[in-house]
Amino acid sequence: MEFLPGNTVGIDLGTTFSTLAIVNEEGEPTPIPNEDDEVETASVILLAESKHVIVGPNRSRAAMEDPENVVERIKRQMGTVGYHRTFDGHEITPEFVSSLILRKLKQDCERQIGTISNAVITVPYYFNDTRRKSTQDAGRIAGLNVVSIINEPTAAALTYAWHRGELGRSDSTEKRRILIYDLGGGTFDSTVVEYSGNNFHVVSTDGDVKLGGVDWNDRLADYVCQKYQEKYGVNLHQFQKTMQILRNDCDVAKIQLTTREQTSISCRHEGQGISVPVTRELFEELTYDLLQRTADTTQFVVEQAGMKFNDLDAIVMIGGSTLMPQVPRMLEKLTGQKPYVSPDLDPHTAVARGAAIHAAILEAQYNKGNKLSDRVKKLLENVREEDVNSHGLGVVATDPKRNQVVNHIMIPRNTTLPYSISKTFQTNKDGQTRVSIQVMEGDAPDPTACALLGKCRITDLPPNLPKGTPVEVTYSFDKTGRISVSAREKLTNQEARIEIERRGVLTEEEVVKFIQLADQYSIE
Ligand SMILES: Nc1ncnc2c1ncn2[C@@H]1O[C@H](COP(=O)(O)OP(=O)(O)OP(=O)(O)O)[C@@H](O)[C@H]1O
Ligand SMILES: [Mg+2]
Repeated sequence: MEFLPGNTVGIDLGTTFSTLAIVNEEGEPTPIPNEDDEVETASVILLAESKHVIVGPNRSRAAMEDPENVVERIKRQMGTVGYHRTFDGHEITPEFVSSLILRKLKQDCERQIGTISNAVITVPYYFNDTRRKSTQDAGRIAGLNVVSIINEPTAAALTYAWHRGELGRSDSTEKRRILIYDLGGGTFDSTVVEYSGNNFHVVSTDGDVKLGGVDWNDRLADYVCQKYQEKYGVNLHQFQKTMQILRNDCDVAKIQLTTREQTSISCRHEGQGISVPVTRELFEELTYDLLQRTADTTQFVVEQAGMKFNDLDAIVMIGGSTLMPQVPRMLEKLTGQKPYVSPDLDPHTAVARGAAIHAAILEAQYNKGNKLSDRVKKLLENVREEDVNSHGLGVVATDPKRNQVVNHIMIPRNTTLPYSISKTFQTNKDGQTRVSIQVMEGDAPDPTACALLGKCRITDLPPNLPKGTPVEVTYSFDKTGRISVSAREKLTNQEARIEIERRGVLTEEEVVKFIQLADQYSIE
């Protein structure tokens, strides 16, 4: 792992808000405020004029702007092939848009702490390989040396243990098990983590990359649209500008309903207006199924961990959407425990601070010449973190019973990494001279429902091999998420192997092109 001279920071690149944090010289993970003195920067981009963008404009300004020039919720598109917006004559992709957010954070924070060169960026656990690589590319385009991509709940667990004074204490061997329930603006994960002072082990995880606070807003917006249609016979969904303002107002109303029993949402369109009263009770009814999806996932994750709810030492809530009263109430009913609440574990910044702690752990272990104090270095240099894979890895094979092509799972999801496994398959027909291995990411038996990660092939096998000749296939998943695959035909010992390269959407040339384009942009 290579570190460049300069600061190493942790960044929570969120769907709705992003935050940068650093472990300071006193050893405290600390969010660094932006130019407007806020620790969270809205992940909203205003394409203001040629080569000039405003990142995190204030709410009302963004809502009034032409929707063509506003980019929101870009994290949802990370890793989507073919998605782009056109601005200034260029097709800009989610990686480039995200890099503008990262550049804004870097630029604002550099004014306070000096050059920022290295970064750990967090992603939802349920992000697949392509989305992770796209996030890494966004970091590169922003001029950051991305030393690691880590999972948001893992980061939150580090923050939790840190604030309890448990992280890095070699005398603390007692195991604690916690559930991290992370409901942010756009994504949801539930994760069971087991840890003692020096060992962090993710036991199981599951989630949804398209479930978050914005979906709660959209339910309110749909309700207002329905009322508007009943009154005026017009479906507002087709009017982008009106919807942009309405969605913003629904976010405000939702946040009001966290502390108030009732509010109202106004909506004006082409001279006709409506004001719709909404009680908290109605809001909870409108969003009940969304909350229930998070409850079902949470139950599943705890079962996958081989645990019962009362095996858990704490239920930790992360993400701004957990401030909605329906969330802790549901969790208490589901688990029989009151979720952990403490000012030390601010749900808005816990992930960024955990990313900063992870960055400091890497610095303590790999970059001895860093600025951390000896006390902090000592504390962190022995911390070990173990992850699981959030998606299964399989190989395309023919199921002989049904004569059907299936995704045969080699490494099931929620397997502790590093992990290696060999399985023996057989050739399909007499005289088969080549064997092709297709490495799939996904848990579905149907290969077309999974993503192809890579292929390798044994060719030039002798022409006379009988059907059923054994072929041994080995999958290895190392700690850093690198996957290697090999296949060996066991009679002649011919072998093929590949190292799967993480592939994002962009090619190397496209990344380089965007790095050059980014240089021409000014960011406010
Ligand atoms: N007081 C509140 N009551 C209800 N919801 C809130 C409150 N404060 C913030 N939110 C919601 O929390 C969400 C933002 O949370 P957070 O900053 O954790 O998400 P994010 O990191 O941007 O998204 P993700 O982690 O999903 O990528 C928004 O949808 C916002 O409306
Ligand atoms: Mg988040």
